[in-house]
Amino acid sequence: MDKIVVLDFGSQYSHLICRRIREFSVYAELVPYNISYEELQKLNPTGIIFSGGPSSVYNSDAPIPENKIFDMNLPLLGICYGHQLIVNNYGGKVKRANKEYGSSLLTIDDDADLLNGIGESVRAWMSHGDEAEQIPDGFKVIGHTENAKAAAIASEKKSIYGIQFHPEVVHTEQGTSILKNFVLTVCGAKQDWTMKNFIDTAVEKIAKIEGNVLCGVSGGIDSTVVALLIDKAIGDRLKCVFVNNGLLRLNEEEEIAKMFKDNFKVNFTAVDASNVFLEKLKGIEDPEAKRKIIGEEFVQVFTEFAEEKGPFKWLAQGTLYPDVIESGVSKGPASVIKSHHNVGGLPDWLNLEILEPLRDLYKDEVRKIAKILKVPEKLFMRHPFPGPGLAVRIIGEVTPTKLEISKVASKIVEDELIKAGLYQKVWQAYAAVGDDRAVGVVGDERKYGNIVMIRVVDSIDAMTADWTRLPHELLEKMSNRITNEIQDVTWVTYTISSKPPATIEPQ
Ligand code: XMP
Repeated sequence: MDKIVVLDFGSQYSHLICRRIREFSVYAELVPYNISYEELQKLNPTGIIFSGGPSSVYNSDAPIPENKIFDMNLPLLGICYGHQLIVNNYGGKVKRANKEYGSSLLTIDDDADLLNGIGESVRAWMSHGDEAEQIPDGFKVIGHTENAKAAAIASEKKSIYGIQFHPEVVHTEQGTSILKNFVLTVCGAKQDWTMKNFIDTAVEKIAKIEGNVLCGVSGGIDSTVVALLIDKAIGDRLKCVFVNNGLLRLNEEEEIAKMFKDNFKVNFTAVDASNVFLEKLKGIEDPEAKRKIIGEEFVQVFTEFAEEKGPFKWLAQGTLYPDVIESGVSKGPASVIKSHHNVGGLPDWLNLEILEPLRDLYKDEVRKIAKILKVPEKLFMRHPFPGPGLAVRIIGEVTPTKLEISKVASKIVEDELIKAGLYQKVWQAYAAVGDDRAVGVVGDERKYGNIVMIRVVDSIDAMTADWTRLPHELLEKMSNRITNEIQDVTWVTYTISSKPPATIEPQ
């Protein structure tokens, strides 16, 4: 399979470069900028991209890739900081410039290959404080903006390109076409990254492992797809365990057991550990502490199951690529946002090896696989649900009252969205609750009750999200039902923060 390797210099958009490339069916992988030359060679890339990053190339602590990487004679594209690295490395000059953030008009000076078919000018997204003052010998300017005279440069002879703007963000017009020109025309990569190919390769790889696999299933699409892939590869050597941690959506435990029994042949066991989880969470308010406790308790339950029903060699999980990036375990310079329990929080004493077949995938890619594997539509259209469950939708301590409020109010939000035909159009929808209370008046009596926060967001991959502009009448219906049907609630609010600066879950 042809592969574009993206070296990550710490831009918040690095992962988006891979996404865009995969969208046109070429495999792209993000690796830390300091990957060794040997490791990079082993990946056998068809082309290399240097991402953007917050540093300046002339700083003494600037991240710089191993020198030999510049001499691999592979097509190379530098984006923003990557562009400046190329200028600097091949003998040009980078200087501090007026900061330029947002959209600028890029004028195309030469449309030979990288900027072919783009038109005479496009809006391009800039986010930089440095610029190329002098380009290296053998390079020419192929595009400029008012502030950046060398906004796009090329050494066609060497197939090396540098662009000051970000083609990977949607605000750059024709950004995907520019990436396509690099990947398909300059690198000559084949468009052979399809989910059908992914399934075949994953099954082939899993079939080679030895020993039995214990797969934690949550009823969500990711772990279900993992279970089905492993089942395809090793059949009887797989056992699936569903843990009721007491933090699930309303009636979810029964629904999931039924769904597995009715649809799949995999070996499935449900374990009710709700009392233990809720007991351990008593008095805990800090979100990361809650995640850690839940993560450890999951592993405790799996370990006990493995001791009783084993032997098992592997623990399989439905970890996805965004979990890996946001948990800060990709070894890249991106910072830890939340330690998603299944990646960031596994305890040292875990006695099983980890199998994560979906670790390189985005959610929409997993959905495509689910379709191919004939996962029932009802399941794969279900919104993503966090591993630590309602514990991250309950702000502060998880108490029985807040748990009940969050369960019932979330069910109302989901039901009303389904009735309005909007459930499948939004990314996630739920009701969160914290300790804030507000005065209400019920039947002429003063009442002091909880405040519920409805959160409905649109997103493509959970890395960014926008709040959904729901019709006011629909919000009113949700609000009325929540205050009427849940005794403890007096106020209902709607959250209108996007990600960033907020996150999707409140904790
Ligand atoms: P945030 O809140 O970080 O959420 O914007 C991004 C996506 O990840 C889900 N999420 C989690 N999933 N373990 C998980 O398995 C976690 O600890 C966790 N925290 C957030 C969240 O529901 C959203 O889809």
